[in-house]
Amino acid sequence: MATLPMAPPAAAISSFTTRPLYSPSSRSHRLLLARFFSAAPAPARAKGLRAAASAVEVGGVKIAREDVVKEDDPTNNVPDTIFSKIGLQLHRRDNHPLGILKNTIYDYFDKNFTGQFDKFDDLCPLVSVKQNFDDVLVPSDHVSRSYNDTYYVDGQTVLRCHTSAHQAELLRDGHTHFLVTGDVYRRDSIDSTHYPVFHQMEGFHVFSPDEWSGSGMDGTAYAAAELKKTLEGLARHLFGAVEMRWVDTYFPFTNPSFELEIYFQDDWLEVLGCGVTEQEILKRNGRRDHVAWAFGLGLERLAMVLFDIPDIRLFWSNDKRFTSQFSEGKLGVKFKPFSKFPPCYKDMSFWINDAFTENNLCEVVRGIAGDLVEEVKLIDNFTNKKGMTSHCYRIAYRSMERSLTDEEINNLQLNVREAVKDKLKVELR
Ligand code: PHE
Repeated sequence: MATLPMAPPAAAISSFTTRPLYSPSSRSHRLLLARFFSAAPAPARAKGLRAAASAVEVGGVKIAREDVVKEDDPTNNVPDTIFSKIGLQLHRRDNHPLGILKNTIYDYFDKNFTGQFDKFDDLCPLVSVKQNFDDVLVPSDHVSRSYNDTYYVDGQTVLRCHTSAHQAELLRDGHTHFLVTGDVYRRDSIDSTHYPVFHQMEGFHVFSPDEWSGSGMDGTAYAAAELKKTLEGLARHLFGAVEMRWVDTYFPFTNPSFELEIYFQDDWLEVLGCGVTEQEILKRNGRRDHVAWAFGLGLERLAMVLFDIPDIRLFWSNDKRFTSQFSEGKLGVKFKPFSKFPPCYKDMSFWINDAFTENNLCEVVRGIAGDLVEEVKLIDNFTNKKGMTSHCYRIAYRSMERSLTDEEINNLQLNVREAVKDKLKVELR
């Protein structure tokens, strides 16, 4: 069991839900989910991403492109590639792996807590910095607040980076048992398990003193025991009789905090983060003297395992050969890959500057190549006698749907090089 650190280290690596966000635990054997950056609205390409739609509606809120993408505003870092995902709500499609998974989790709660959990899956992903961070006690200097990690619409507004952003308001509205499913946004590196938009489900359960008074436990111990029982049951509901283990971890909003790992395909896989809610959150939101548990799980990561989906980009595919393989209520139908097009690798080297980050690079690359980029990987790194540091990145291009021509890839790479030079002000070698 890991010990509970008081605060996450600056370069903390991800909770199960994905990234170097709240939990400092990092194990290389884990699948990690996705995200990244851009200041770089890739010229021609990005514009075509959402052909005509310049406004979408989510939960009754109209969101126009100009509300979210502000190229000349230094407090904004949302690229068109990200705007193009808002409102798609893959988790609300009953025939999509994410919708099927969401509904299966709903079934579990309906069966075990009949009528108790209120469900939300249409809350607007644009939230205030207060909702996303302050309300859940994320320290002011926490790495997850940086422009490198989070999409800011302006200094006060972000695209939520977790569904925990809705805990406080739902508590204040009087809800004591709730599930919140939604798209969440994080700047990140690029590989087959990382994408800057993914989906989470938050669970929250408040207990009043009379519920634990006869248990012989204090409120915290009672909530922790209930939490573990509930989530072990959920894991069995999804995966069958699996081996599982609890790992202690850190989140700013829960104490104690845990991750649940399941043994799957010869490895321990982190499937969710959870814990007993900090008293301060309950106190501030009308539930003094109560206790609560909360969890956050990443739907893509569970769905990749349950449906054998090998690349996170596939969730966004409209290709019939993908979408037609899934149907309502059928959890765990194994995906049959319809193509195994070979990847094409291109290397690029440059001298970095102080402002350089890998998330920024990845967003520029994604802005040009879109979902044709499969991975961006640092393969060489050295500092010369003058103190200049050079990075060499290998970019893997591969379409999930078709073969790419040499000409197309060479063009992409040429445009990527130009954009990287222009936007990141690095010196190509
Ligand atoms: N919000 C956390 C994350 O995104 C997950 C979590 C939710 C952990 C609720 C504890 C309680 O990583």
